[in-house]
Amino acid sequence: MTALTLKPAAAAGQRADVIVVGVAKGAKGPVLAPGAAVVDEAFGGKLAAVLETLGASGGEGETTKLPAPDGLKAPVVLAVGLGGLPEKDAAFDEDALRRAAGAAARALAGTKKAVFALPAESAEAVAALAEGAALGGYSFDAYKDDGEAAKGGKNGKGPLGEAAIAVDKPRDKDVKAALERAAAVAEEVNRSRDLINTPPNDLTPEAFAAVASAAAKEHGIKVQVLDEKALVKGGYGGILGVGAGSQNPPRLVKLAYTHPKAQKSLAFVGKGITYDSGGISLKPAGHNETMKCDMSGAAAVFAAIVAAARLGLEVNITGWLALAENMPSGSAVRPGDVLRMYSGKTVEVLNTDAEGRLVLADALWKASEAKPDAIVDVATLTGAMMMALGSRTFGVMGNDDAFRTSVHEIAEEAGEASWPMPLPKHLQKGMESPTADIANMGERMGGGLVAGLFLQEFVGEGIAWAHLDIAGPAYNEGSPYGYTPKGGTGSAVRTLVRLAERTAAGDLG
Ligand code: BES
Ligand code: MN
Ligand code: ZN
Repeated sequence: MTALTLKPAAAAGQRADVIVVGVAKGAKGPVLAPGAAVVDEAFGGKLAAVLETLGASGGEGETTKLPAPDGLKAPVVLAVGLGGLPEKDAAFDEDALRRAAGAAARALAGTKKAVFALPAESAEAVAALAEGAALGGYSFDAYKDDGEAAKGGKNGKGPLGEAAIAVDKPRDKDVKAALERAAAVAEEVNRSRDLINTPPNDLTPEAFAAVASAAAKEHGIKVQVLDEKALVKGGYGGILGVGAGSQNPPRLVKLAYTHPKAQKSLAFVGKGITYDSGGISLKPAGHNETMKCDMSGAAAVFAAIVAAARLGLEVNITGWLALAENMPSGSAVRPGDVLRMYSGKTVEVLNTDAEGRLVLADALWKASEAKPDAIVDVATLTGAMMMALGSRTFGVMGNDDAFRTSVHEIAEEAGEASWPMPLPKHLQKGMESPTADIANMGERMGGGLVAGLFLQEFVGEGIAWAHLDIAGPAYNEGSPYGYTPKGGTGSAVRTLVRLAERTAAGDLG
């Protein structure tokens, strides 16, 4: 994990391996961003011209390395593109800073120490730079090569060691607090990424529950793990049904973070399918290679609760991790089987690959029993949502338009792309079952909304609920960009943390 520190801006020429400056895309070529002055001086005021000669434009995510001239104590300068210039007198937007810091940190994998001489003119800007650097510096090397794993593995370079953010007032209380928050949140996002990237032969439901228990104890979070026996006793037919085909039995993990001054209570529910083969409705080749990512919702819930505990937020949060492995076998649920869910409702399983909604249904009903002020579930639920919104935006649905809008806006504040989606009542009809109360599948068109409507059936009366379908953004199959690595992204963690903060501040309902 990249360490984050603050350094006085005047000392931007201090000892480091690399000094990072920002460059924006101006109308007539690259323009240096605030923070770059000390470096530019060492170049005799010609840094922008040099960069242009080297082919730099200031475009978003572009990185240009060049040797430093005498006068700078770092041997290398890295110019990172910020994209378009902000409007006159306006500051660079936080998202642009976060992405640029992330791109720089990625370009500096394996470097010991870099000074970030980027625009850091407010506590918010410092937070964005710090978050971006810590998220962009992430690398998952645990499986690279035994002997070298600690150093980043034979094939990995390891992360950037330290990102020193250069600021005018490093001792300012707000600036220091912003850095600490950013470090805690980024560490937890990275923790969720580690879980997502861990191969499914190692991260079974039991193993996930053990990781969650250990971390919960470390951070003063109460934890309770329901194993397969307890699940049978409690009547959790959805979770048991999905887990029935696997040698690795399911778990339901409850995490309870409480604060003595809390006025509000939230419940976070996460889909934790440690591997989704599709079950008897087996996925075809080409669709299951990345399905270790199907526990990303549970990873996000877990990481967000640990972050809330570390930040000491004045809100009570209960987390529910619905963990199971969806496998085909002689003991697996079959298409045509009827499950009796924890709520008492019966579900005809028409497609065993629509398993997420089955485990979530039990967890949502359980979460509803405590009558929290709001419930948010997070799930890699449908390929249809990915079709609708692409691979970088999650869908937000819910039973309360105002709450759904708040969650969408909070995600935006946190720097996560999301979009509100409807739950049209007429789609309910497709889930009618001749045998049971409801089927686990409906119309193919609008499949993401159908899944949302199914979940709604298991949310307690009168509780505000939002459903985040992160099937698109949870796992990056493409090239890394900004602060987003390949593989697990940690989608929704920052949104959940921000929601907890806003709830603690009394900003919601
Ligand atoms: N885990 C998948 C959804 C998914 C697909 C997540 C691609 C990430 C990337 C989910 O369990 C699933 O298989 N959904 C089915 C539902 C269908 C059978 C009704 C789907 O979307 O095809
Ligand atoms: Mn599935
Ligand atoms: Zn799934």
